[in-house]
Parts: sequence; C-alpha cells; structure tokens
Amino acid sequence: MGEARLFTPVEFRGVRLKNRLVLSPMCTYSAEEGMVQDWHRIHYTTRAQGGVGLVLLEATAVDPLGRISPQDLGLWSDEQIPGMAQLARDIAGAGAVPGIQLAHAGRKAGTARPWEGGRPLGWPVVAPSPLPFAPGYPEPRELDPDGLEAIREAFVAAARRAVKAGFQVIELHMAHGYLLASFLSPLTNRRQDAYGGDRARRMRFPLEIAAAVRQALPEEVPLFVRVSATDWAPGGWNVEDTVAFARELLALGVDLLDVSSGGTVPTAPRPVAPGFQVPLADRVRKATGMPTGAVGLITTAEQAETILQNESADLVFMGRKLLGDPYFPLRAARAWGLEAPVPPQYLAAF
Ligand SMILES: Cc1cc2nc3c(=O)[nH]c(=O)nc-3n(C[C@H](O)[C@H](O)[C@H](O)COP(=O)(O)O)c2cc1C
Repeated sequence: MGEARLFTPVEFRGVRLKNRLVLSPMCTYSAEEGMVQDWHRIHYTTRAQGGVGLVLLEATAVDPLGRISPQDLGLWSDEQIPGMAQLARDIAGAGAVPGIQLAHAGRKAGTARPWEGGRPLGWPVVAPSPLPFAPGYPEPRELDPDGLEAIREAFVAAARRAVKAGFQVIELHMAHGYLLASFLSPLTNRRQDAYGGDRARRMRFPLEIAAAVRQALPEEVPLFVRVSATDWAPGGWNVEDTVAFARELLALGVDLLDVSSGGTVPTAPRPVAPGFQVPLADRVRKATGMPTGAVGLITTAEQAETILQNESADLVFMGRKLLGDPYFPLRAARAWGLEAPVPPQYLAAF
C-alpha cells in the first residue's frame, strides 16, 4: 500500500490532521448540566490515543432546550468553558486534533437516553413549523423572528466559546432532522415567510447560521457542516438539493461537508449497508468541488482507503467501530507496515 492515502496528512486552513480518520460525533449521554465529566475525558482521550487524526465531540447543545437528552454536553454558558478546555487539551495531548459538533435538536429535543427508553420528556420544543416528530412527541412552537435571532446568537456564542476552549475544528449539525435540518426539508418546513417555501427559502436560515458562525470564527479555524444528504422519503430533501446547498456553503467558506442521511421523519427507513452513504459524499464532491467526509458502516481500513482512492471523500468518519475498538487506527496502520506513531507504552502490543 505504498500509495495509501488513509494515513497521509491533510490540512484545512492550516490545521493539520495527521491522517484521514475522524471519530464521528456520537452522543455519550454522560454530561451533567451540559458539563464535561471525567467520563468524557477518558472516552475521548482514549480514542485520540487510538490514532484518529480528528476527534469530533458529540452534538454539543448551543441552548439547554436544544439538547437531545438532559445528559448532552453544552456550550451555552461560559461556565462550561473550563471543562471543555481541559478536554480539548487532553485530546490534543494524546495526538489528535480536537473538534466539536455544535447542535440544536429542534423538535427532537428533550428525550430520555436510549438505554432509558428514549421517550420524549415533554420539554417545550421549537421548530420551523408546529409539526410533532412522531406521535407522543410535543408540538413544537414555530420560531418567530426573535426566536430565529436568539438561535443565531446561540450558535455564534457557542462557536466563540468552543474556540476559546481550544477546539480547532467546528462542525455545525445540520443533519438527522434536528433544528437546522428541519428548515431544509419540505417535510418539516411548512413556513410561509422568508424561511419557508422553495428550496432557496428553506436553505436561508441554515445558511445564515453558517455565515454568522464563519464570520465569528478566526480565519484559521475550519468550519465543517454535517448534512443529511437525503431524507430517503418521497417529497423530501434529496441529493440534488444537497448539491445546491453545498455550493452555497462553499461560497460562505465552509471547509467540508460531512455527508450523512435520514432522521428527518420516523417513517423513512434508511437502506443501511456497508458504506451506503458514500455515493452521496461522492456526488457532492464531484458536482461541487466541496471537500467531503464519508460516514456510515465504514469498518475496515481497506474500505476507507477505497473511498479515498475513488476521491469520494477527503475524510473518513467512523462511529461505532471506534466505540468498540478505539485502537483500530493504530493497528490498521501497523498492519500496513506504516510507521504509525504508536505511543512507546503500547509498542509491545503493535
Ligand atoms: C451512540 C450514537 C450516538 C450518535 N450521536 C451523534 C451525534 O451526536 N451527532 C451526529 O451527527 N451523529 C451522531 N451519530 C451518528 C454517527 O456519527 C454516525 O454517523 C453513524 O453512527 C454511522 O456511522 P458508523 O456506522 O460508523 O457508526 C450517533 C451514532 C451513535 C451510534
């Protein structure tokens, strides 16, 4: 594998990732009042030691009512900065670039942890339109102009706090039916004002957030966006819409589109199979020139390498594989005979 790309570095705005593997953002449902706990430090530092180039923290709420669960991490308050700063230092000290995903869960906010049933807890939720996610979910309050402004400010303030805490990559969560995604999809956005209607109007609020956050970030901090490239539902958002969205994001200075799918409506099953979302990343990258991240059931180094060789994506995000097997990147690099920087304490194992 002399020409292998997986373990070659890549730069975004001068931030150098030592390889193309990313810990995909995954809720750990382990925070108290949005604050970092020892558990997070152990969890994320272990994955950083395991050899990924970039550790992207889980969906971190910009507003307490925008948490998926009461145990989500948050950056809605300055009090949350010191814990986050320690976590960013730990990740960087273990050899990975620390990144963070900023999120507002919209109409899907306020649910119990999955292992506690995942049911809605009855929080007041907000959305583009007053449509509950599913039976048993609360009816959201339709965001008015003041509400939209407050959300914009919350994303900007959280992004500033993330930079202050030392995170070097910021990702905006615009996927999986959460607040910003629900503006994009015609299935969830029925507004009659400037933020609903045709595609350009539905994209307007997410683009305003991307522009405001980009403007607030220092020039040298890359901004990624995660999208659901398709709702997998008739009449829903689709990959052609995503191509149009990617062009706009690129023009705003977004550095990478992290291409996921689904989550918009509960009735749309995803055609889950190994690498099933890779063609979506490929399509966006080739149609727009926007750098992409591929994610979804990518579990081997060979699979990841093929994605890079085919130029379907610039980064490969891995989720569940790295939950169960944090040292996978080091082992894969050593199996390819590469001089992976194995911490000396672990040399006996690799
Ligand atoms: C426990 C768990 C929590 C997740 N939390 C998030 C999240 O906070 N933000 C997000 O964008 N995706 C989240 N996801 C989706 C993952 O980032 C990833 O896209 C998905 O698991 C598919 O990749 P995989 O097959 O490598 O796991 C989560 C997935 C899992 C399994």
